[in-house]
Amino acid sequence: MLGISRVRTPANLKILVRKVRFDYLGAMGRQRYWHDNDPVKTHFFNALQALFPEGERFFMDAARDVRDEVGRDNLAPELREQIQQFIRQEAMHGREHDSWTQALVALGYPAMQAFDAGLKRDNKWARRNIAATTRLAMTAASEHFTASMAHLFIYHRPDLVEQAAEPFRQLLVYHALEEVEHKAVCFDLYQQADGSYWKRTATMAFVTVDLLLRLHNRMRYLLQQDGLWNAENRRATRQLLWGKQGVSASRKLDASGRVKVPVG
Ligand SMILES: [Fe+2]
Ligand SMILES: [Fe+2]
Repeated sequence: MLGISRVRTPANLKILVRKVRFDYLGAMGRQRYWHDNDPVKTHFFNALQALFPEGERFFMDAARDVRDEVGRDNLAPELREQIQQFIRQEAMHGREHDSWTQALVALGYPAMQAFDAGLKRDNKWARRNIAATTRLAMTAASEHFTASMAHLFIYHRPDLVEQAAEPFRQLLVYHALEEVEHKAVCFDLYQQADGSYWKRTATMAFVTVDLLLRLHNRMRYLLQQDGLWNAENRRATRQLLWGKQGVSASRKLDASGRVKVPVG
């Protein structure tokens, strides 16, 4: 997994909730393979984004549950405010990605609804059976993953965003920037509530593999549905997920711990 600097949320950082609303179905109707006319890259984002609505509800529940267990009065006012804004940002992301998933269902990918229902069931089970602090460790790990992906799109593989047609490009940039903005909020809350290093690293390993497998399954379904799950596209999918330039590859960091930006 690529690294990013491990920092606390600066106390003076104002996390802003930006309201957006886009028409995904209209855009898909105009250009089905809206990412550079490339079905693999298009379905990579279609598959990735489909994990967000329920994933983000999982994060919001974990943050709320731990905040309430610790007690609001035991948290610094800045952290309380950051948690509130984190929840509002994720709620807005969830709404937009729900609408993107609905567009995929309407376009002829009905199983995307079933994938979503499966995640909903998993979330209900997790809330009943997994301690809130463990769910928050999973959330902090997932937030590290999403912020790392945002770094990838902004610094290392801007082509992955720039080649997307509107409104997908705008949505991806907006979501990536907000993920960077709130990347450390759940980590900060976790450090205060539990802070176990081993729990955090174990959940990081778990959520990374879990996320990449779920992503792979959804990509396979979307490409199969189009009759495009052939050897060439299977190879391109593997490279995008697991290859040297892919989303799970290590990145070189500079002395300050930031991802090195390629020059030229
Ligand atoms: Fe998000
Ligand atoms: Fe997030």
